[in-house]
Amino acid sequence: MISKQMEETLNKQMNRELFSAYLYLAMSAYFETAIMKGFAKWMRLQAKEEEAHALKFYDFIIARGGKVSFLPIESPKTNWTSTGKVFEHAYVHEQKVTSLINSLVELAIKEKDHATFEMLQWFVKEQVEEEAQANEILSKIKTFGDIPGKLFYLDHELGKRE
Ligand code: FEO
Repeated sequence: MISKQMEETLNKQMNRELFSAYLYLAMSAYFETAIMKGFAKWMRLQAKEEEAHALKFYDFIIARGGKVSFLPIESPKTNWTSTGKVFEHAYVHEQKVTSLINSLVELAIKEKDHATFEMLQWFVKEQVEEEAQANEILSKIKTFGDIPGKLFYLDHELGKRE
């Protein structure tokens, strides 16, 4: 069993993961409009990953005898002024998600909820990767100068993501 507070917090995190999927899909749509197919594909796959994150919380809440809540999903931002701004946003967003995961871990420790603590370790590791990949792409964009012509190569590279 999970506590009521834990159930509520896990449900909120499931909602934030769905919001993340929405946000990355909005970023994908932005790149589709800009005819940057590689960036669009990368973001679409990222949205899929976020959906999978949400389902991990969904499955866990049910497995622990909790009730899944379907909270409203916030509308994401849909426009940015440059490719660099999109990845700055993604990087800051992932840092926020990390802090939410950390708060959940702290709650699990406080409640001596070992099962939830254990499940969250997957997310702790995943967030290291999520932050690193957003930051790495952002750094490359900064190196290239965020100029459309120079971003062609990066668009091609990101389009290889499977
Ligand atoms: Fe589900 Fe990008 O963190």
